[in-house]
This record gives sequence, structure tokens and C-alpha cells, in this order.
Amino acid sequence: MKTKDLNNLVNKIYKICNFKKTGLHEPVFSQEEIKSLKKSIQSTMVSTTGGVVDKFEKKLKNFVKSKHCIATINGTSALHISLLLVGVKRNDEVLVPPFSFVATANSILYCDAIPHFVDINEKNLGIDPDKLYKYLKSICKKQNGYSVNKKTGNIIRAIMPVHVFGHPADIEKIVKISNHFNIKIIEDAAEALGSYYKNKHLGTFGDVGILSFNGNKIITTGAGGAIITNKNNLAKKARHLIANAKINHPWNYEHDQIGFNYRMPSLNAALGCAQIDKIKIFLKKKKNLYKKYKKELAQFNKDFIVMNEPIHSRSNFWLNTIILNNNKGNLKRKILISAHKKGIRLRPIWNPINTFKHFKKYPKMNLSNVDKFKDRIINLPSGLNILK
Ligand SMILES: Cc1ncc(COP(=O)(O)O)c(C=O)c1O
Repeated sequence: MKTKDLNNLVNKIYKICNFKKTGLHEPVFSQEEIKSLKKSIQSTMVSTTGGVVDKFEKKLKNFVKSKHCIATINGTSALHISLLLVGVKRNDEVLVPPFSFVATANSILYCDAIPHFVDINEKNLGIDPDKLYKYLKSICKKQNGYSVNKKTGNIIRAIMPVHVFGHPADIEKIVKISNHFNIKIIEDAAEALGSYYKNKHLGTFGDVGILSFNGNKIITTGAGGAIITNKNNLAKKARHLIANAKINHPWNYEHDQIGFNYRMPSLNAALGCAQIDKIKIFLKKKKNLYKKYKKELAQFNKDFIVMNEPIHSRSNFWLNTIILNNNKGNLKRKILISAHKKGIRLRPIWNPINTFKHFKKYPKMNLSNVDKFKDRIINLPSGLNILK
């Protein structure tokens, strides 16, 4: 890309960002959030009791159409509990893509289990189901109904499909493969509230799914997350584990296993209640912003494409994304430097998790697509503040 084109590109993005310094995904609040928070403070029940968390869970459950929704302190804790729910134990292997926020793989280590990295595909940046099937066929043997890694002797217990930047992975195919190999599914839909595959909300395809409401997500509770599941027994177990495994009793403190203090506080849920009421407006704005990027940046098609909604999908367009045709002349770095100089906080895709010091030793398949795309993907500012 010539310097003139690079400047032109950054100026176009700056214009879309209303000629202002812009972060990657800034939240937007108005009177509703302030009112809801004020009410929660005035009630004095700012921790986990008082009914606001129940109200938020109900709104969420209705929106994603899942039987149960359990609010947590963040998406990471929701992932940790989800792994425990499906029975992940020490030395079990959990299949995970390297393109995700590190929390996905960290949660596996919290369980003393082993992350096992699998490749992605370029259509949606999620797990490649065809490669996955061939790989599992070659490395697994069946033992007592489980798929066991022939090399390590460990059970491959679970898989964590990630819906990257809000775009649905090939979730139907992944579910089929997982059923075939008797592998449990934890869907990391942290970025995917408001995204659907064939009209079914993401996070509801597997045994259990999770959402995140971090400040940079499509709706926020400050920090927060949720476990979603249609299974009564898993929901009951989740509620027990996130509340320190306390046996329900009005005054007695008895705990029957190691539990966690992972419940979402009411203050956060109060913010979430006001935010989720506006989700449909937010989704519309996000789609309009995607269309704007698509139109305004079409002239750069010889250097990159703006990532599209995968087929059979409705995406929330959480983070708009450009995929460079190549990284010749260190184009990714040049774009990032120019944009940051102007105060536009573009972000490259995460470094592949398998390359981090504490993940290097874990098993992986041939990650040719991760290698092909790791230096070619950039996220564009996508916050709700951009389109008024
Ligand atoms: C794909 C993915 N998984 C997990 C998480 C963790 O969520 P949280 O930050 O709420 O702990 C995030 C995000 O922040 C994420 O993007």
C-alpha cells in the first residue's frame, strides 16, 4: 500500500469516527442506566440479594431463548464453572482455538486440564470443522465410550468453540462432530450477544454457553458474564458452585465442596437491566456501522476486505474487522501506527494463545490457518458512540 493510500485509509476511518479520538468499543449510557443504578444504591442491597440479578437473568434468558441463565462476575468465571459443569478434570484435554482472548484457554488451566489447540477457518475465524474431524479421527481411540488421545492416554473431554468478533463459527457441524466423538461443548459466546446461527442464538447449541458483559461488549454490566444452558441439572450445579457451594439455609453456613465467589453483584445487574432493554437498538446501530465501513472502505479491496457475516448467520458485528490480502511490507504494523497516531485505537487480532510462554508446551494440530492469518487481521472501532 502506498503512503498516499495509507493516509487515505486512516482519514476515512477517522471520518467514520466523527473526526474524534476513538477507542475500540466504547459503551454508551443514558438516563436509564443512571436511574437503574440509583434505585439499586437506594435499596442498599448492592451485593447479590434483592432481586435485581434475578431480573437481569430473566431478561437475558428471554432474549437468548435459553431455559436457564446464571449471571456471574465476568465471562472468565463463567467459562471456569462451565468446564467444571461438563466434568472437566485434571489431565483431561480440552480442544480450543488459538484465536481467542486468553481467558478461554486460561479457564482450562484453572481446572488442571490440558488445552489442546485446533485450527480455525478463514470464513468465520472459528474452529474449522473439517480439519477437526480428520484430526480427531487420526488421534483418538474409543475407550469406555470416551475419545482418548492415543498419544497421551488422556480423555478429550470438551471443546470450546469461540464465536470470534461476534461472528458465528460453524457451530452445527462442530456439534455433530462433538456428538460423534462424545466430547462436551462449552460455547464461548462472550462476544456474541445478539448473534444467531440459523435463527438460534449463539451459546445455546452446546451443553453450556457463556456470555461476557465487560465494558467493551455489546451491552455491559461494568464487569460481568453469564452461563446459559437448557439443562436443569447443570443450572442447579452452576448456581451452587458460584455461591461458594453453600447449602441453602436461612442462617446456617454449611458448604459441601470447593465453591467459588462468582455471583454477579446487584449493582452490575442494575446496569445490565437498563442496557439489555436497548439491545435491539444497539444491534441495528452495529449493523449500520458495518454497512458504512463496507461502503466507505470498498475502494481498498486490492489490499483488504471488510469481514462479512458468515452464511446462515446473523451477526451482532461486535468488532468490525479487516482482513489484509497479505502483510507485505509489514502493512499491518503501518496501518496500526498511522491510526494510533491519530488517536484511533485499531487493534490487531490477539496473538495466537499457543505461542504464549505458558501455553507453548501443550498439544496442537497443524495450525496452518492460524499462521496464515495471524498477521493479517485488524479490528476497527465499533462502539455504539460512533453512529449517533
Ligand atoms: C472470546 C472471549 N472469551 C472470554 C472472555 C472473557 O470475558 P470477561 O472479560 O468478561 O472475563 C472474553 C472477553 O473479554 C472474550 O472476548
